Amino acid sequence: MSIVVENIEYTYPSGVTALNDVSLKINKGTYIAIMGANGAGKTTLIKHFNGLLKPTKGKVLVNEIETTTRSVAEMAKIVGFVFQNPDHQLFLTTVEEEIKFGPTNFDIPEDQIQKDMERVLMFLNLKNLLKRSPFSLSEGERKRVALASVLVMNPEILILDEPTMGQDAIQKRNIAKIISELNQQGRTIAIVTHDVEFVAEYQPRVILMGDGRIIADGEAKDVLTNLEAMAQTKLRPPQITALAWEIAKQEESFPKDLISITEMKTKLLGLG
Ligand SMILES: Nc1ncnc2c1ncn2[C@@H]1O[C@H](COP(=O)(O)OP(=O)(O)OP(=O)(O)O)[C@@H](O)[C@H]1O
Ligand SMILES: [Mg+2]
Repeated sequence: MSIVVENIEYTYPSGVTALNDVSLKINKGTYIAIMGANGAGKTTLIKHFNGLLKPTKGKVLVNEIETTTRSVAEMAKIVGFVFQNPDHQLFLTTVEEEIKFGPTNFDIPEDQIQKDMERVLMFLNLKNLLKRSPFSLSEGERKRVALASVLVMNPEILILDEPTMGQDAIQKRNIAKIISELNQQGRTIAIVTHDVEFVAEYQPRVILMGDGRIIADGEAKDVLTNLEAMAQTKLRPPQITALAWEIAKQEESFPKDLISITEMKTKLLGLG
């Protein structure tokens, strides 16, 4: 088990209780998406996965270790964390320094760092930005540099807060591909996203949050087509699901649980 969250509550010093009796288990190698309205508690929850926040009540175990017993620096060896806002992560003068910072601190040999860096630069289309200052980059580019600086460390568990935010379609696809590949290599991945179409396409396990609680937890196919749960989160179902529901109004036997283009195409062409 990669991450075990047991009945946690979290209250910010200001007095806002952002998590209320949240429990979940994430098996090693799972790809999970956490979704929900603004302020639902998604970021607060995932900050518990690398010990950045410690629960006010309950406990969080990462690889069987309780996060309260480790520093964030120690946790960073196992858990890579990409912030929602890249400005909270980037602080060096060039993209290259930014990407090399983590591995250098972990005493990884220079030639290995160079190799790992080349790989993420290629994947994330950052090669020609290497000598630039992160603060001279566009928001989408900064987000990819933040991603690169974490991916380069090859963490066993990867936590990404809105990884596709501000990305164009091509970059979004690249990021989706990297995430899928890392997951296929056995890495545990948790992303926070508002992008239902992204989730419909890649179909990770989905957790819906609302008001600091978990509303639904299950297969993307079941959660995204759960009308009642989705309504509570202010998320719209995927376009394909909306279309399936429209068709089902006239054609009762038409399945209402379609979420991807591929599934819809198969159904419409009578192949499935
Ligand atoms: N540093 C903080 N101090 C006090 N309250 C906070 C802090 N950060 C978040 N909160 C509050 O905790 C609640 C949950 O916030 P959180 O950032 O976890 O939501 P979120 O689901 O990630 O939202 P979004 O989709 O907007 O990123 C909100 O009510 C928010 O106002
Ligand atoms: Mg957030």
